[in-house]
Amino acid sequence: MRIRGVVLMMLAFVGISAAQAPAPSKAKAKAPSAPASRNPATLAQLMKGILFPSANVVFFAQSDNPNDVPPAKDPALAINPLASSYGKWEAVENASLAIVEAANLLTVPGRKCSNGLPVPVTNADWPKLVQGLRDAGMAAYKAAQSKNQDKILDAADVMTTACANCHDKYREKPTPADRCK
Ligand code: HEC
Repeated sequence: MRIRGVVLMMLAFVGISAAQAPAPSKAKAKAPSAPASRNPATLAQLMKGILFPSANVVFFAQSDNPNDVPPAKDPALAINPLASSYGKWEAVENASLAIVEAANLLTVPGRKCSNGLPVPVTNADWPKLVQGLRDAGMAAYKAAQSKNQDKILDAADVMTTACANCHDKYREKPTPADRCK
């Protein structure tokens, strides 16, 4: 019985490595994968997955001192970044940088908005609106590094404006179909 178990395990192992083996040369000759498959998130999904939660960590520091956030019972499993192993002001620094880096993802061609239209990366004002977000993230990062809540207040203001500038133009529409035009 025991030997049979070992043999089965070995077979399973062989099966797995065969599945993970590099595809034959035919795959190599294929054209590089379409941008869409490398950027599966819609613009709205990026906003909800990265910008919204990160901005909230920055906004929190306006009214509450991140140093006063007690660690979660198990900081390694915390769902609140401020109470996690990388919490307090470090969480504000990292959330700010996540926003700066995510700004680059807003300029990638091939991404769609939730209504199926392409993200308007070639519109003249789009890069400027994205740069506004980048600047806001950097301001928040510097404020977080200084652990100064007055500076966070200023940076949060810049950030709210950066989000709103773009939303006013591309999101706040009577119908979803008119977004991203
Ligand atoms: C350069 C433009 C731009 C910037 C900057 C921007 N957004 Fe957005 N955002 C959009 C657009 C356009 C949509 C709608 C996207 C879609 O429908 O796919 C959107 C959607 C969202 C959504 C999803 C809700 C909804 O109505 O679909 C959230 C949440 C959001 N943004 C938060 C933020 C926050 C927070 C910031 C700033 C930290 C920000 N956004 C900065 C353009 C922007």
